[in-house]
Amino acid sequence: MTKVKILGAGSIGNHLAHASREQGWNVTLCDIDEAALQRTRDDIYPTRYGQWDEEIHLCRPEEISEERFDLVIIGTPPDSHIPLALAEIRNSKPRVVLIEKPLCPPDLEPCTELMELAAEQNVRVLVGYNHRLTGHTRIAAKWLDEHSIGEITTLRAMTREHWGGIFAAHPWLAGPSDTYLGFTSRGGGALGEHSHAINIWQYFAELAGMGRISEVMAMLDEVEADGAAYDRIAQLSVRTDRGLVGTIVQDVVTQPAQKWLRLEGTEGYLEWQVNIDANHDLIRLVRHDGLELEERVAKTRPDDFRGEIEHVGQMLEDHAMASPLDMSAGLETMQVIVAALKSARDGRLVKVQT
Ligand SMILES: NC(=O)c1ccc[n+]([C@@H]2O[C@H](COP(=O)([O-])OP(=O)(O)OC[C@H]3O[C@@H](n4cnc5c(N)ncnc54)[C@H](O)[C@@H]3O)[C@@H](O)[C@H]2O)c1
Repeated sequence: MTKVKILGAGSIGNHLAHASREQGWNVTLCDIDEAALQRTRDDIYPTRYGQWDEEIHLCRPEEISEERFDLVIIGTPPDSHIPLALAEIRNSKPRVVLIEKPLCPPDLEPCTELMELAAEQNVRVLVGYNHRLTGHTRIAAKWLDEHSIGEITTLRAMTREHWGGIFAAHPWLAGPSDTYLGFTSRGGGALGEHSHAINIWQYFAELAGMGRISEVMAMLDEVEADGAAYDRIAQLSVRTDRGLVGTIVQDVVTQPAQKWLRLEGTEGYLEWQVNIDANHDLIRLVRHDGLELEERVAKTRPDDFRGEIEHVGQMLEDHAMASPLDMSAGLETMQVIVAALKSARDGRLVKVQT
């Protein structure tokens, strides 16, 4: 039976433990904080999924430091992702490591060591940009394949969501300065926390054959308050190496949230939206010749992670399979974040360093 170890019994750790149990996997969920383990068993898991699952083994990381696992999931704060991934590849020798987004804070130097070690040890490293594998995104990919919208002219994406919801789900946190969320330098702020928009922009640019982001011009609203220092709004103008110009906006102030993307062509457009209401994502392809395809895809919060975990399961069977979650894609998102910070702070257009 597939053995999975999840580091971090927080919000995402619980989601991915549940999705892994649905696959019938043997799940060990660990945390350095005893209170987090207790909250998982008594509060988060039963509140979200009806009841605690006695099959999940809860423990502290040191209790299982010598044990081997097929899959390790890293669901801890971003500034711990790379050191933990390196240690896990060395100690638990997994076949696949799934790191939560964002891959790391905006200091990309340690990524090289991780890339090299993973290649040397033949470990697949993925980054959990789960929107790439939700039902409506798969439909979008299929429709784009089947129905031309002409020459692609622009692409826009946004993840604008007030972070009050995150703090409501973490009532033990006093505010942004209590966590990485309040620090852009630790992988928080709008750029890190809501990097889903940059990532999904990159995915649709790839699906449309429009290349990779090579230039960024950004404006940030950076705030320093109550000991925290973060970007609360990030507005990016970007250009790909194939000449596609578009915009990406991420913020932690908009409520209700807007998670939206639109790919514009000379003969039509494709629109993608997460949560048009609590239970549906939306996908629409409209052609100016009259063709209109629209699907409201029913979903629950666990569905946001099912596609991702099913995909990881397939990779455990087929280790060399292509993956939209490959570390290289998560790293490209980080490279855009680093360029955006430089652009906004220096007040100029910045070429993306790859
Ligand atoms: N893909 C998504 O939709 C999504 C959703 C939520 C969170 N996330 C990402 O997941 C990550 C964690 O976010 P969260 O909201 O779950 O945070 P959280 O604060 O709820 O949980 C993180 C947990 O990690 C534990 N931890 C820290 N260092 C550890 C270590 N070395 N070993 C074991 N446990 C350790 C902490 O004690 C804490 O309980 C972030 O990178 C976040 O961006 C992604």
